[in-house]
Amino acid sequence: MTVADQEEIKTHQVPERLLSSSLPTPHVVSLDAYRKLWKESVEDPDKFFGDRAREMLTWSKPFQTVRHGSLEEGDVAWFLEGELNACYNAVDRHALKTPNKVAIIHEGDEPDQVRKITYGELLREVSKVANVLKNLGVRKGDNIVVYMPMIPETLVALLACARVGAVHSVVFAGFSAESLRDRVVDSSARIILTSDEGRRGGKNIATKRIVDDALRDHQTHVEHVVVYQRTGTPVPWVQDRDVWWHEETAKVRSFCPPEPMNAEDPLFLLYTSGSTGTPKGIQHSTGGYMLGAMLTLKYVFDYHENDVYACMADVGWITGHTYLTYGPLLNGATTVVFESTPTYPNPSRFWDLIQKHKITQFYTAPTAIRALRRLGDQWLEGYDLSSLRVIGSVGEPINPEAWDWYNEKVGKNQCAVVDTYWQTETGSIIVSPLPGATPTKPGSATLPFFGIKPIILDPTSGKELNQVDETGVLAIAQPWPSMARTVYNNHHRFLETYLKPYPGYYFTGDGASLDKDGYIWIRGRVDDVINVSGHRLSTAEIESALVHHEAVAEAAVIGGHDDLTGQCIHAFVSLKPHVDTADGLDKELTLQVRKIIGPFASPKRIYVVQDHPKTRSGKIMRRILRKIVNGEQDQLGDISTLADPSVVAVLIEKVHGPQ
Ligand code: PRX
Repeated sequence: MTVADQEEIKTHQVPERLLSSSLPTPHVVSLDAYRKLWKESVEDPDKFFGDRAREMLTWSKPFQTVRHGSLEEGDVAWFLEGELNACYNAVDRHALKTPNKVAIIHEGDEPDQVRKITYGELLREVSKVANVLKNLGVRKGDNIVVYMPMIPETLVALLACARVGAVHSVVFAGFSAESLRDRVVDSSARIILTSDEGRRGGKNIATKRIVDDALRDHQTHVEHVVVYQRTGTPVPWVQDRDVWWHEETAKVRSFCPPEPMNAEDPLFLLYTSGSTGTPKGIQHSTGGYMLGAMLTLKYVFDYHENDVYACMADVGWITGHTYLTYGPLLNGATTVVFESTPTYPNPSRFWDLIQKHKITQFYTAPTAIRALRRLGDQWLEGYDLSSLRVIGSVGEPINPEAWDWYNEKVGKNQCAVVDTYWQTETGSIIVSPLPGATPTKPGSATLPFFGIKPIILDPTSGKELNQVDETGVLAIAQPWPSMARTVYNNHHRFLETYLKPYPGYYFTGDGASLDKDGYIWIRGRVDDVINVSGHRLSTAEIESALVHHEAVAEAAVIGGHDDLTGQCIHAFVSLKPHVDTADGLDKELTLQVRKIIGPFASPKRIYVVQDHPKTRSGKIMRRILRKIVNGEQDQLGDISTLADPSVVAVLIEKVHGPQ
């Protein structure tokens, strides 16, 4: 979006309904009140976060030091001497006070499959699984891989790991066997938790079979696979390795003492894609992460005690960790686990869900909003969505048309729309409106959360840019509690990726600008990461999957614009000299990417080309490919530095047809 477009955009004031006495009073009721709190949080983070950590979390041993280390040194730590357990904080303390309160509502794949689990039941289930893990030899600090579908037991699995001090590493159940294996190997996990199958949109997903494939013929440390029975379809069994969840939990006590953990002990790893190399295991802390999750859920979603909160993200991504699991449960909320898709059995599914459970906060991704908007307003007709107060968006930039539709048709102009910007590495939301306080501008994630000091830097000089509307790279100038601490087994990579590019700052990898009101406009990634339907993908990984094919000599992958998915994958491949036909290659290459990464990484277009645009030193100029794909071939700039400038015209014809 250009600055001129941005200026056309209307500012929406906080809807009066949210401030009326019939609804719970928002935690922050004016922009001034927000600014005052934000100022306190960045000027005296020790006091701001120290007070809140003491008030909101239950510690088995108090901390003395609130904040330690620096972004320069990459040794950030919070609540140093403190000890606590994430599962105790998310489950026990609510189970002790309100055992009959519903913790999880499971909306199964079929709309009539609803299960409710109270905090009391959750505590017993989690304790049983924790005891099973202990019986299987799990010790504090062990890594455990979770490859499970969207069922309450997946949350139980995470919490059980946290209870015994094991570090969970969830792998999204859409990843292929090969991707799963890479993550299992990298984390040296000895245990995998999975299910016989998953269900989604009326189809079965063969989770156990994928785990088997991932472990077949390869050296891993995996000793046991614990299998939850979701569909009952018979699955192959490896004697002495595989155990049934229901059989093992039937043998153990339903109480297991929570393991006291240091605030800086890792709570989980989550692998994410970067611009180069293999996916990295982003490692989060226990204390700081929990405080970030709990605080942002309370303030960004304006959570109150009787709310029913629903986040549509998959637990395989960071949103499913922070805003489906930890954030809501730490606050003692009722969280909805949704197994299906927005269009199954028809495109009214979300609205049916909201009406049925009287959902107060609803959180989804722009891709889903755009897809539902395209399918037409008739799917919303007749649904009572009046329980909603806050509707959120995450994962990719939301275009103003989709924002307006969400606000008008879903929020009925009576809800706060929160466009939340954050990343796997930030642990929790870092830029977002607050429902009772922040006027919104469609397309802008607005203002920083407490403790976040955003700065726009010149990408080349690293100097701060202070001009209104000047685009640079987004960096954060101070440590905050929930920021990632390291890349698993590779602190060097953590420093090189996030802290060294601009010394003294955390580098987000996103471009951004500030408008005259200090609102932040995220411009998208400045590195080779692409975002398809909110799924973060590395162009390097897709290229590497493509060159695995015996016919491919070289591959270049770039992100093109897509009205529905935000970005989509375009791949340019050149063939090895002995390959004389490209017939059927599209299909084979797509399969190849699905097999090596997963179906969500499938290229939208594959172009077989003679040559790539290369510099004289042989580097592919992806910038040129990006411009051609996005219809900006008249703005290619100087191409005379290319080894062979004539390839450009050939490529333009390939993509757009004869000119
Ligand atoms: O480019 C930004 C985009 O998603 C990236 C982070 O992806 P991931 O780690 O998978 O986490 C997604 C869920 C938090 C960011 O670097 N992104 C995320 N939220 C927004 C966004 N871009 C624009 N607006 C957002 N609200």
